[in-house]
Amino acid sequence: MSWKPVEGADSVLENDMKEFDVDGVAVLIARNANGYFAYPALCPHMEAQLAFGTCDGKLITCMQHLWQWDMESGDPVGMAEERIKTYPTKFEEGQVWIFFEEELKYAYMED
Ligand code: FES
Repeated sequence: MSWKPVEGADSVLENDMKEFDVDGVAVLIARNANGYFAYPALCPHMEAQLAFGTCDGKLITCMQHLWQWDMESGDPVGMAEERIKTYPTKFEEGQVWIFFEEELKYAYMED
């Protein structure tokens, strides 16, 4: 359990998102006018890579079956049946940090 810096995440543009490797764990960082938000990189439905979806500043949409979530709360919207996990974030010392509360299971970027 600790805060981890996400190298390069400050380059994510507003209303956009990108995947990053944090200590071998794939995380998705999205940004809107209110700040940065972090999630596991894989969709809770069938594990598609969320970075290939879209972020419009309010919703994140998975490109695979179009499930959507409120990007700030992670709550499901429309036909999505599960919420998306969110991780606490902060912007300090010129970079984005995320708080890992537990071991993440989406570690496919280690290969
Ligand atoms: S894998 Fe994302 S909505 Fe189905």
